[in-house]
Amino acid sequence: METFRPEENRYVIDQESSVEMARLMELDILTTKCMGSLFPADVALSTIHDVLDVACGPGGWVSEVAFAHPEKRVVGADISHSMLSYARAYAEVQGLQNTTFYYRSATEPLDFPDDSFDFVNSRFMVGFMWKEAWPNYIQECARIIRPGGVIRLTESDCMSGLSAGNSVALSWFNRIMVRAFYRTGRSFCEDEDGYQVGVTPMLPKFLKEAGFQAIREQPHLLNFSAGTETRERMFKNLQIGLKLVQPFLVKAGVTTEEEVERCYQQVITDFMSEDFRAAWYFTSVYGVRGEK
Ligand SMILES: C[S@@+](CC[C@H](N)C(=O)[O-])C[C@H]1O[C@@H](n2cnc3c(N)ncnc32)[C@H](O)[C@@H]1O
Repeated sequence: METFRPEENRYVIDQESSVEMARLMELDILTTKCMGSLFPADVALSTIHDVLDVACGPGGWVSEVAFAHPEKRVVGADISHSMLSYARAYAEVQGLQNTTFYYRSATEPLDFPDDSFDFVNSRFMVGFMWKEAWPNYIQECARIIRPGGVIRLTESDCMSGLSAGNSVALSWFNRIMVRAFYRTGRSFCEDEDGYQVGVTPMLPKFLKEAGFQAIREQPHLLNFSAGTETRERMFKNLQIGLKLVQPFLVKAGVTTEEEVERCYQQVITDFMSEDFRAAWYFTSVYGVRGEK
């Protein structure tokens, strides 16, 4: 079984992989569209000047915000050198003058001054955050966000992208991934045979403890069944993601190379079926920094 050392940065997929970067570009398009807008609808955009996206991947959200709001300064942070380098190059191609990308780890103190941002965003960090890292990260965000500024965390509790559906193989993947997350210290759910990692119900508590107020939760639903326009993008996302995650699953001792490959092939077959039904739920939790 994989041993777990908190001082290590451990993302379940090789973060320098170019095909993982391609997957994250698709994921960004899918999820931003599903979320409906770049910022929560009830946040006053005129009060937001400095924006940070932590674990920004190839920088899709950062670029979109910078393009749509040239008056805002938008910063992306990640620990993948290849993604940061792509994000910088793409911002240059787009002629964006208001973006900067830094190497920063969410599991270490964030090297930004106190009170330097009005909005801190992070999406899908559960793949590298062990559970003890969440409160520390949110406390760090509280330090760098100005009073009146907003934090938004968007996460999923279902690891294979399947919250509900009729593919037994995809459901198996979810269960096996939840078990691996449990064994490697990433799950808040005490049931290693459960179907979810229980991170999203923890976030309002952590936000409150760190001094955030007016905490709100916003669910998102992405239906990628046969016949939907999202199916192709989700297919590419899972075709890559479920392949690249296999070494982590085998190392965590929850499956064998043969078993996981067999189930992977079955997921691909299920996806092609015109009877394929599947939906993915994820949640944004956001709150306002109180006076310090
Ligand atoms: C699932 S991706 C999310 C990408 C992006 N936030 C999105 O929603 O499209 C996870 C990202 O976390 C990054 N990452 C892994 N470990 C990290 C760490 N310790 N600190 C910051 N980012 C990390 C990976 O390089 C990858 O880009």
